[in-house]
Amino acid sequence: MPKHVFPVDFVWGAATAAYQIEGAVREDGRGESIWDRFSHTPGKIQGGDTGDVACDHYHRYREDVALMREMGLKGYRFSIAWPRIVPAGKGALNPKGLDFYNALVDRLLANGITPYATLYHWELPQLLQDRGGWDNRDTAAYFAEYAAVVFESLGDRVRHWITLNEPSVVAYNGHAIGEHAPGFTDYALAVRVSHHLNLAHARAVAAYRQLNQGGVIGTTLNLTSVYPAGNAPEDGAAARIADGMYNRWFLDPVLKGAYPRDILELFGQKLQAPVIQAGDLERIAAAPIDFLGLNYYSRLLVRSAPSSPFGYEAVRGAGPCTAMGWEIYPDGLYDLLVRLDRDYGHPRLLVTENGAAFDDPLQAGRVADPERIAYLREHFLAARRAIESGVRLEGYFVWSLLDNFEWAHGYSRRFGLIYVDYPTQERIWKDSARWYQGVIRQNGV
Ligand code: FCB
Repeated sequence: MPKHVFPVDFVWGAATAAYQIEGAVREDGRGESIWDRFSHTPGKIQGGDTGDVACDHYHRYREDVALMREMGLKGYRFSIAWPRIVPAGKGALNPKGLDFYNALVDRLLANGITPYATLYHWELPQLLQDRGGWDNRDTAAYFAEYAAVVFESLGDRVRHWITLNEPSVVAYNGHAIGEHAPGFTDYALAVRVSHHLNLAHARAVAAYRQLNQGGVIGTTLNLTSVYPAGNAPEDGAAARIADGMYNRWFLDPVLKGAYPRDILELFGQKLQAPVIQAGDLERIAAAPIDFLGLNYYSRLLVRSAPSSPFGYEAVRGAGPCTAMGWEIYPDGLYDLLVRLDRDYGHPRLLVTENGAAFDDPLQAGRVADPERIAYLREHFLAARRAIESGVRLEGYFVWSLLDNFEWAHGYSRRFGLIYVDYPTQERIWKDSARWYQGVIRQNGV
């Protein structure tokens, strides 16, 4: 018997995203996305890697669903590639794109696995980028049109929807830091983009409600617990700003229908951003979500730094790190879950991503990955403590089912429960996958 048991209907799952696993980027009418363009731009991705082939999941999804079934997954979170469905971003549909996801969904259901579909995991059609991308307010309307097409095609069987994956990463990493597509380095642009993403989310939620399909819809935010590095009051103030920019700026609109006043002022003063038009906040407030998805990987430790753009800087924590250089800090997940419950009115929550990259050795057909097992065990226990404290956490999706294309890092970072030998596309169970299978079977750690 496991020592730490989870609620009977707890959804144990794994997550992936289309560009990171599908490959087949030029097949069956798929249009170009900003990640195709970005990954083919020299110098952007480690090793010059691209998602052209990735895990070849587009052709191997049957085999991959069989792996999920063997693992015992109750839920599978995947994303739908906008340019497979609407190759130009707006206008003509590509039925073959819908065929693929219909076949995937049917296969999941036939194997007893509940599909959780994300509508935007970063694949903006390139033709929309050419018209301004997320800086163009019209993109939000095109997104809702695409979303409605997907709801109409899959919504009788997909009952769990996630509009956007990590709008903060789309905004900051893609438009201010520049390490993600489309690769801009302009904070004011990033803040405008974040507002337009909120509009896109709200429009998609509205489109879903209109269809009355009876499932649930939410969004996925990349959240972290922010702590001051020292006891000085300036460090506390710095932590409040960082928490505001990374967490509250994205949480408050979807859960409270408003932007946090302090950060709105900060962005207004420093960046003359965002540009909120009449009716925008009403639209956002009129689209409450059914659940919040959160992706948690690490904490953020900050101290006051008056000369840096927003008055704070990140400090390295003392704990051990994963291959991403991210500090392993499971208590941060507990703190985050309890805080969301307290500050945002006891919402339904799902951990839509948590996991770790390590340098997994493949030796004699086996991958021993004790660090990943320890990482997951500690985070599962943190989640369970939060549930005991009354948090409405309903499921947990490990990132990731398979090793895959880790964005700017290409194939150099392995997050999978299943190892992918890229030259042969062979799937090999890591020890952590067997361990997770046991967790699911016993519904506990
Ligand atoms: C998240 C992304 C996901 C994956 C993990 C490691 O930010 O949503 O696609 O790359 O990080």
